[in-house]
Amino acid sequence: MAEFDLAIRNGTVVTASDTIRCDIGVRGGRIVQLAEAITGATRDIDASGLMVLPGGIDSHVHLDQDSGPEIRMADGFESGTRAAAAGGTTTVIAFAKQKKGSSLRACVEAYHKKAEGKALIDYGFHLIVSDPTPSVLNQELPALFGDGCTSFKVFMTYDDLVLNDRQLLDVFAVARREQALVMVHAEGYDTIKYLTEKLESEGKTAPYYHAASRPQLIEREATHRAISHAELIDVPIMIVHVSGREPMEQIRWARQRGLKVYAETCPQYISLTADDLKGENLEGGKYVCSPPPRDHDSWNAIWEGLKDGTFQVFSSDHCPFFYDSAAGKLHPRSAESFRYVPNGIPGIETRMMILWSEGVAKGRITPNEFVALTATNHARIYGLYPRKGTIAVGTDADLVLWDPNRKETIRQEALHHGSDYTPWEGFAVTGWPVMTIAGGRIVVEDGKVLGKPGDGGFLRRDISPYARAGS
Ligand code: URP
Ligand code: ZN
Ligand code: ZN
Repeated sequence: MAEFDLAIRNGTVVTASDTIRCDIGVRGGRIVQLAEAITGATRDIDASGLMVLPGGIDSHVHLDQDSGPEIRMADGFESGTRAAAAGGTTTVIAFAKQKKGSSLRACVEAYHKKAEGKALIDYGFHLIVSDPTPSVLNQELPALFGDGCTSFKVFMTYDDLVLNDRQLLDVFAVARREQALVMVHAEGYDTIKYLTEKLESEGKTAPYYHAASRPQLIEREATHRAISHAELIDVPIMIVHVSGREPMEQIRWARQRGLKVYAETCPQYISLTADDLKGENLEGGKYVCSPPPRDHDSWNAIWEGLKDGTFQVFSSDHCPFFYDSAAGKLHPRSAESFRYVPNGIPGIETRMMILWSEGVAKGRITPNEFVALTATNHARIYGLYPRKGTIAVGTDADLVLWDPNRKETIRQEALHHGSDYTPWEGFAVTGWPVMTIAGGRIVVEDGKVLGKPGDGGFLRRDISPYARAGS
């Protein structure tokens, strides 16, 4: 019998801390040896000229999420994880959204059913708390944290999700007590509503005005408010999908005060702008997400933050809808007002190539920083480390073989997601995943998907060390 199931030979292994020329031996889904030369494997993979990175972890994805009566999400766990793997990602953490008036536990059970037997790669769940009743706060949340869903998201906007300040304080207090990590969508509900109504009354209803209805100051104010609530309760928080300089200034200010405020950003905030929302025939709807893409100054600010540690994680915020479909992005009332265009864009497959191309290939970040931002820090922050997010003996054999020099152009026709468009159509990239390996199985080889639905399993995540209160 061969000593190894798989040997990855002649590659350059890159982790968040090191770059080493070594071979990797895999057995039973785990890395069992790192050595100068490994022989005796059932299958040898020649990684000459390639980098071998920890498989990406995308800790912010929406799959099969209930999005309202006339809207259908374009990806469930099968197509969503297929697309993720094709882009070099081997683990996703998706949201299990509580419907107001429903029990959170029942919602999580429903998401387990949606995912079971479907995912090609491993997945976990963050909770979305939209209705923090006493039983949710005192019974359901602690039980669900114990079941391995150790983080949850709260929203400061959206009619069906918004929590008021008192509710935010209540859920923050539970997070502190139970050491769960809180993720915050920081945009102010009332200010958005005010601007939306004002724009509509002036006849400014095209998708472009979505961006005008959510300026950075709205994100800045909500970020500051969330930070103040977190300081009052003494609880760490993660501000997700940060779009530009103004919220970043609040995050840095909080850190200077010694507060544990973490931050996430996404591809749309380094590669799209509000001008992309200006297309004819509601084309701009393809770029509607919240917070909206900003401008070049914001891109520069985000790069500074990716380099200086303001951001720990780079996620996709994959939230896929259909553009050209009656049941999708073009909601039946989208032409009436931007307020009806579903918020969210598809990006699970293109996240890593955009960051490599714009970041590493252009000399803005190092390959090691890329690994930290796309994999290692997600694992550390969300209770998956060291099983996931690095390359070491004993860890899951979740790997991506990366060609740092390959030039490609992003095209919808070559992508695997369920959406009928990509916001990055025609975007030229340098750097490409040529093979994705998850749990020692080859899931994608040169664009060909070999993985099967059900190969991936649910991840019970540990309590995050980042969720500990105090300094
Ligand atoms: O527009 C976005 N980002 N939609 C996804 C939901 C969210 O807020 O993350
Ligand atoms: Zn959000
Ligand atoms: Zn999201």
